[in-house]
Amino acid sequence: MRAAARMQQFEESIIREMTRHAMEHDAINLSQGFPDFDPPQAVVEAAVDAIRRGENQYTVTWGYPALRERLSEVYTPRLGREIDPNLHITVTCGVTEGIVAAVMAVVDPGDEVLIVEPAHENFRPAAIMAGGVPVPVPLSPPDYRLDPERLASVITPRARALLINTPHNPTGRVFDDEETAGLAELVVKHDLVLITDEIYEHILYDGRTHLSPARREGLAERTITVSGMSKTFAITGWRLGFVLAPTSLAVAVHKAHDYLTICAPTPLQAAGIAALNLPQPYFAAMAAAYAERREVMMGYLAEAGFQALMPEGAYYTIADYHSLPVEQAAWSSMDFALWLTKEVGVAVVPMTSFYSAPGYGQGSVRFAFPKRVDTLHSAGRRLLELGDLRR
Ligand SMILES: Cc1ncc(COP(=O)(O)O)c(C=O)c1O
Repeated sequence: MRAAARMQQFEESIIREMTRHAMEHDAINLSQGFPDFDPPQAVVEAAVDAIRRGENQYTVTWGYPALRERLSEVYTPRLGREIDPNLHITVTCGVTEGIVAAVMAVVDPGDEVLIVEPAHENFRPAAIMAGGVPVPVPLSPPDYRLDPERLASVITPRARALLINTPHNPTGRVFDDEETAGLAELVVKHDLVLITDEIYEHILYDGRTHLSPARREGLAERTITVSGMSKTFAITGWRLGFVLAPTSLAVAVHKAHDYLTICAPTPLQAAGIAALNLPQPYFAAMAAAYAERREVMMGYLAEAGFQALMPEGAYYTIADYHSLPVEQAAWSSMDFALWLTKEVGVAVVPMTSFYSAPGYGQGSVRFAFPKRVDTLHSAGRRLLELGDLRR
């Protein structure tokens, strides 16, 4: 039988493939961005309680009511406009589903969807599954800055939506005021919908702050903000995300989500309230713990001979391997990533997998560091042996 043509326009996830290789070769998995430590105990207890007290059936399709109330309290000040719990919010099965629902809600067949690359793997499939045409807007090393001229050069009359993620996976960039101002101007000028993935909004370094692009002048009514709980609370397996849409688009997001999944898991949504209710010191301690992991990771990478980009936010770094003292330094990033996984025992992701634009991503790989510090030390020790593998 023949699979649908649209499914042939993208591959299975390379990140999940690298995780499979990591398991097969007993490598330390720094490929997929999930923690190897537990979520806050209060959040775990809240989930157990919710199941015990019988919160086990479907809930309102666009979200457990008390969770939406809490999200409204949290995001009204964050977005600088009233977020109505009954209108603007859709709780989804992770940001992954949130992005699909947002794209489904605004993209018609043939519409162009601009995607800032390197991009999270599901952006392009989301555009294609909605019948849209993905158009890459590549960022370049060494600084991966968002260049408005570059963006302007790919905008055509068919452009409908722009997808961006900040703090950014995989570069660790937190797009600054100048970059987002340039982007905002183009979004308004060309009547686009901006879809932002802000899943790393609480993981920031060196005193940086996160400003939701939806707060910028002219963007509130044309921005769909997507965020979630996977990263902030170390619960990637719970599948909790949320979409905050302006009034004109919110019902379309509700509908897309309803027919994709009905609702996100009810007891976990109930426990999500406990997560959002954690006191401020939790968020500060979480960010500080990531800063420590960043330091450990960056230290080993520098010592081993990688040129890695200092993350400003999120929990990844892009490492250029050209100057390593091994013949594999000349290999393609996929071959290098496979070699590092199988022979060195540290699984990473080739940067080429984050680009669809040809010619980008060679010569570097992504390291994810949401791991216990002892895991990072074990991985680091393996990386320091790279010199001994010289052939
Ligand atoms: C930018 C970005 N968006 C979305 C996701 C997935 O989020 P979720 O677990 O909420 O589906 C990830 C996970 O790595 C990510 O890096």
